Amino acid sequence: MTETPSIQWFPGHMKKTEREIIKSLPLVDIVAELLDARIPLSSQNPVLPKLLGGKPRFIILNKADMADENITRKHIDFFREQGLMTLQTDCTTGKGLKQFEATVRTVLKEKIERNAQKGMSGKTIHAMIVGIPNVGKSTLINRLAGQKKAKTEDRPGVTRNKQWVRVSDTCELLDMPGVLWPKFEDPIVAERLAFTGAVKDDIVDIEALAARLIETLILNYKARLENRYEIEITSDNGYAVLIEIAKKRGFLIRGGEYNTERAAITVLDEYRGKKLGKISLE
Ligand code: G4P
Repeated sequence: MTETPSIQWFPGHMKKTEREIIKSLPLVDIVAELLDARIPLSSQNPVLPKLLGGKPRFIILNKADMADENITRKHIDFFREQGLMTLQTDCTTGKGLKQFEATVRTVLKEKIERNAQKGMSGKTIHAMIVGIPNVGKSTLINRLAGQKKAKTEDRPGVTRNKQWVRVSDTCELLDMPGVLWPKFEDPIVAERLAFTGAVKDDIVDIEALAARLIETLILNYKARLENRYEIEITSDNGYAVLIEIAKKRGFLIRGGEYNTERAAITVLDEYRGKKLGKISLE
């Protein structure tokens, strides 16, 4: 069987990762939930709020460089209505990360004020990153760590195996992120995760996936497809569009048939490689 670490979540895995997060929670003041800005709902974990209890959290919409800015603004409003602050980032360049600590401090404003009243105004804030596989957790931690990722000493008694990454003089990040599972039992969620590449392609039917992506893109980004592939889209059937793309690109297999598999790989690669522009899928 193909090994698919990003999708093969068994109850045992889920319990283990849940236990690890629960174990780390007492060590941190705040949790940053990393979501994919292109699919912020599908990249959420179904039980996180319950898992965190009352622990303060905020949202980081990562891969914002790949998402439609107008839609990201709506997502930020949506989360604000739920009382959640949101930061948008591109962790490959570090864009948005300068606001990380400021956001942490805003969310923890009352706690910080209480600390100050007790004469502990410089107290270090501890944060933890959580998110589903491939959302960019490691990239974010490495970015925030910068040159400072030299391992700090273990904290005796409490955090024997935990290492902290220094973000600033008064903010530290747990260097191991909490890995969460997605709502994979929902077929729409599973499909969107597959579109973005969060689920490995070797476990999905690539042509069916690309055809569904095309059908999804036709709804809001039809002109982008038409411009990119120099075709006129007259059908809302993704497979028919794949044939048009194969025709236009001259993807042929023996016997004069069109190579729709090659067209499928092209569409998925180009969508993921931002060749179709910034696109949000929900
Ligand atoms: P994880 O720890 O949550 O599993 O994710 P990780 O940091 O490994 O990042 C997964 C992929 O996402 C990496 O690509 C990484 O470069 C990319 N990535 C992370 N943050 C951003 C972002 O803000 N914008 C963009 N465009 N990409 C981001 P990779 O190493 O090339 O892996 P893959 O693309 O082959 O899966």
